[in-house]
Amino acid sequence: MLRLRSGLRLLEASVRNHMTRTYGLASAMPFVKAVNDDVDVVYCKKKDENAGKDKLEKAAKAATSEKLDKPKQGSQPVRMKKDGDKQVGEPPAKEVAAKDGDKKDEAPKAKPKPKPKEARMKTFEIYRWKPGDEPKMQTFKLDLNKCGAMVLDALIKIKSEVDATLTFRRSCREGICGSCAMNIDGINTLACIQAIDTNVGRPCKIYPLPHLYVKRDLVPDMSQFYDQYRSIEPWLQRKDLDREIGKAQYLQSLEDRNRLDGLYECILCACCQTACPSYWWNSEKYLGPAVLMQAYRWVIDSRDEATDHRLCQLMDPWKLYRCHTILNCTNTCPKNLNPAMAIIQLKQLLAGMKKKPKPKLQTDLLFQNQM
Ligand code: SF4
Ligand code: F3S
Ligand code: FES
Repeated sequence: MLRLRSGLRLLEASVRNHMTRTYGLASAMPFVKAVNDDVDVVYCKKKDENAGKDKLEKAAKAATSEKLDKPKQGSQPVRMKKDGDKQVGEPPAKEVAAKDGDKKDEAPKAKPKPKPKEARMKTFEIYRWKPGDEPKMQTFKLDLNKCGAMVLDALIKIKSEVDATLTFRRSCREGICGSCAMNIDGINTLACIQAIDTNVGRPCKIYPLPHLYVKRDLVPDMSQFYDQYRSIEPWLQRKDLDREIGKAQYLQSLEDRNRLDGLYECILCACCQTACPSYWWNSEKYLGPAVLMQAYRWVIDSRDEATDHRLCQLMDPWKLYRCHTILNCTNTCPKNLNPAMAIIQLKQLLAGMKKKPKPKLQTDLLFQNQM
């Protein structure tokens, strides 16, 4: 093989000399191309001089364009993209424009309109009275689709959109203040947490709390109830308050504090009070379940030192013992409290069947170091 190569090289040199001497043209020299150790020798004759030249130029051009167009496998051609360049597989610009145009021209599909909800007309029959008038029931109709879920929402809607003279109390709108208590469909409850009955065939009847004087429409006179509440002295009483005041906190043990659960949550709405038949007939003498439950709340408080005084105040045939355990009070309480049980506990304390537990935390001791 080596011999053959060296022979070929000698032959090439001699041919090169011969051609230079014979034609005197370097451009007409044979084109020698070595590729992968193979040797191709192209001899150019004088008469084919131009044709050979063209062939070489064409081959060079083809090679150059081939290099640019066909990237090596596994590599990308490094070439800046010009504005007019197209991506492979990219549709012609005209086609793209036409497609875009089609989309723009297409009318946007109209969303199907939601069917208007069928009106759910609910009748509200509301007690109306103002001084000088005869009491009457007034009827209002509301579309439940356009009204809040609670009875108080309906009342507010009527007052703001239908009849501004409709009068009722409300404040918190979440069952905390107790001011919106009224009789709804026969039950004493809070209008703000009472859902409207969605049965549109049945009218919703709204009255003020029963067996109380009425100031106007749904506003009862609560003054007697508040007087009775005041009569049980609903505040902490200490024997030596002047000595203790401002010196330390009145602390309680957990156990003592837990005895107040189910009592202190009362919002004094008077729903239970006005649901008690005994209270209906003897409201001036009988204290009623709400007031009696608060009386028990202070009797049982471990920090209070007026227990005997409080119990003596209830030693009366009317104030406490008019309760006949009818339980309307517990059934109707919108805060799920149990005034009937509180009354029973009071009766047991008065009868000596039970005694007030001694405080686990001696409140007196808290003040010894402060003196
Ligand atoms: Fe209202 Fe219930 Fe208190 Fe009675 S016990 S006043 S119904 S929260
Ligand atoms: Fe009246 Fe309740 Fe007693 S309804 S009779 S206070 S248990
Ligand atoms: Fe306060 Fe109803 S608005 S309890």
